[in-house]
Parts: sequence; C-alpha cells; structure tokens
Amino acid sequence: MKQNRYIAAIVGTGRIGFTLGFDKKREQPASHTMALLGNKRIKLIAATDTNQENLEQWRKYVRKHNGKKEFTLTFPSSKELYENVTCLDIITVAVNEDNHLQECIKAIEYKPKLVILEKPVALNSEEAEKIRDKALECGVPVMVNHERRFAKDYLSVVKMIGQIGDIQSVVGELDSGLRIYGEEFEKDGTYSLLHDGTHLVDIIQFLLGGNIEKEDVTNDRLEENKQNPEKTESTSSKEGSCQILKNPLVTGVYKDEKGIVRNFSVHYQSVVSSFGTIPEVTIKMSGRSKFFEFRIEILGTLGKICIGNGFAELFLRKESKLYTGFYSLTKQKIKLPKKTGYFSGMIQNAVDFLDGNSELVSPLEDAISDLRALEEIKAGLK
Ligand SMILES: NC(=O)c1ccc[n+]([C@@H]2O[C@H](COP(=O)([O-])OP(=O)(O)OC[C@H]3O[C@@H](n4cnc5c(N)ncnc54)[C@H](O)[C@@H]3O)[C@@H](O)[C@H]2O)c1
Repeated sequence: MKQNRYIAAIVGTGRIGFTLGFDKKREQPASHTMALLGNKRIKLIAATDTNQENLEQWRKYVRKHNGKKEFTLTFPSSKELYENVTCLDIITVAVNEDNHLQECIKAIEYKPKLVILEKPVALNSEEAEKIRDKALECGVPVMVNHERRFAKDYLSVVKMIGQIGDIQSVVGELDSGLRIYGEEFEKDGTYSLLHDGTHLVDIIQFLLGGNIEKEDVTNDRLEENKQNPEKTESTSSKEGSCQILKNPLVTGVYKDEKGIVRNFSVHYQSVVSSFGTIPEVTIKMSGRSKFFEFRIEILGTLGKICIGNGFAELFLRKESKLYTGFYSLTKQKIKLPKKTGYFSGMIQNAVDFLDGNSELVSPLEDAISDLRALEEIKAGLK
C-alpha cells in the first residue's frame, strides 16, 4: 500500500537549514533541506528566509531536486508562506536564536502536525515556556534538533554502559574559541554556554536519564488539551522532571580582561540516573581553545566509555600486561556504524511520530529542561 507523504516547509535557509548540506567533510545529510529531501515520506515544497540571496540559492537547488512534478515555492516572510500555503504537515524552524520565539510561535499558530525547532529552544527558559504554552494551547507537538539523540554511535553507548559496572563519574567537556558567557550576549544568544552547551547538557541528560519515568510529559498534556481545550493550563511554573542535572556547584571560573567568561567547571553531586545514583557529574567548558572538542567520559567500576565528535571508545578491565596481580583498562575493538544517521534519524523519528509509530525522541519538554540546567550554571558564572 502506498503511504501518504508529509508536506514540509523550512523557515530559515542558512547553514543548518540548507548550506551545511554541501560540507564535504560532514556526514550527510547535514542540513534540514537535505535531510527532508532525503526522506521518501516527505515532500519539501516551500521555504522562507529574510535573506533573499540564501532563499534564491535554496530555490534553485530544491527546484532541481523536485523537478516540475512538485512545487518549489519561496516567500520573503513566514507570514506570506503561511497565507499562501495551507497544506503543511511539518514546519522546520531553523532561524537564528533571537528569532526562535517569534518564528516558532507563528509556526505553531499555523497548526501543522509537527514543528521541528532548531536548538536551543529559545534565548532563555522564559521564552521557551511561551513556546511550550502556545504548543499546548494549539495542540501542536514540537521536537528540538538535539541531534546526538539520534546518532547511532551515542545510542550504542547506552548498550555499552552495562559492561562498565557501576558508574562512578561522568565528565563532559566542550572546548572551543567562542566566549562562554557575557551578559551582553544574552540578547542574541551568541555565547557558547547556550549555543553549544545545550548539546552537551542535553546528551548527558538523555544518556543518563533515559529510563527515568517522567511525571508530566508534554505529549500526555497535548492529548489532554486536545480532548478538553477549555481546560488548557499554563505550564510556565512547572518544572520538567527530565532535568537530572540540578543544584550545580560552579568552580574554576576564568574571565578575560573584558570580564567575559572563558572557562568553568560545574559539579553535580549524587545525580539520580537510570543507571543508579552517580556520585559526581562534571561539565567543563573552555571558550579560549584554538580547537573544537566535544567529549563525554563515563567511568565505571569495570571500565570506561569515551565518546565525542568522531569517536567512541570502550575500555574494559583486563589482567595487566605490566604488573602481576593488577588489572588495567584495555581498549576494546568495537563495531560502530559507518554513518551515525544523526540528521536522517531525526527526520525519520518525525515521520514515525506522525505515523503514530513512535514517541518524539527529542521533545520540547526535554530541551526546556536543558535550558533550565544551563541557566542554573549561568547564575554561578555571574
Ligand atoms: N543542531 C546543530 O548542530 C546546529 C548547527 C548549527 C546551527 N544550529 C542552530 O540553527 C539555528 C540557525 O543557525 P545557522 O548557523 O543556520 O544560522 P544562519 O545565520 O546560517 O541561518 C539562519 C537563517 O535564518 C534566516 N532568518 C533569520 N530570521 C528569520 C526570520 N524571521 N524569517 C525567516 N528567515 C530568517 C537568516 O536570514 C539566515 O539565512 C540557530 O538556532 C543555531 O543554534 C544548530
């Protein structure tokens, strides 16, 4: 039986919306356009961008792909897109952080079947909660592109954790050249704590919190609100239970001559995870490194897992080759998938969700809990 295709549009045809799809070094698809075009169950028919050059480049490429049989429509604003195209099932919002609130709310008000929102949800949790309240009011599910949740290498870590015994500690590290935090950058979100930190906090909370039951997930409330729209409650005061990184102790703060934060460490004690209580989770960030590094190290009583951009390693306790009667950690040969499928997996989850075959792997609620965790860290940096 031929299955229906979901009709999609993109708001924002910049790097993640479109052009990262041409980066030869990146695993492809690496942009929303290429990932949507690559899924047989989706018809990508329209886009909008306030930058006409970006939009025209997008139109030419997608028109070639779609041919004459499909529409390829472009509009200078989302308002015009929504007024003219009334059949959208999926709207992807891939604009800059400072426009997430405005554009995501407009997308939700259109009432598609699903909104895919780029990370971070918004500039702060107050804005994010406005998005959530609108999503609940309109009964529209929102998923957030925290892509590592869909990557097969990260997913294989969950299976490996069983081999390393009890978790003793987790360390997440993110090093880049982008400033970590300065109050003046809150208006547009151009600081690494928010921009990249959201990925680090998200994947740690995802890997460790996987099986913890959530008290009050957005999907359940969406159902309730659909059945009883008058009783739609504001959720802004509710704390999502998916936040497992709470009550941080911030240390090692280094500020440059302008007072901009360039290094910090943050420690969480007795973190309740789906693998038991972890004595300590540490996150370290640098914003003055002349390289980019994203890694997580999980130390167990029998071994260790290291995973980051482009690598995943498992070390297990084996009899030492150097000392009689001792055990050392030895790197294991592990089979990893050639492609992680981080972007195509995200789009496939959207299709499976719309088909009614899967939950959203990266729901809005989880991404809001990431923002809250980041804001708790930020309070310790001021
Ligand atoms: N998931 C990831 O790994 C990843 C990677 C890169 C960027 N991002 C996120 O994606 C978002 C976009 O980042 P980018 O690097 O693609 O930025 P970008 O500047 O390359 O692209 C953003 C595009 O949105 C357009 N735009 C801005 N406001 C608009 C509006 N109101 N209506 C229509 N178009 C509008 C801009 O003209 C631009 O073309 C950010 O939130 C960023 O954090 C995520």
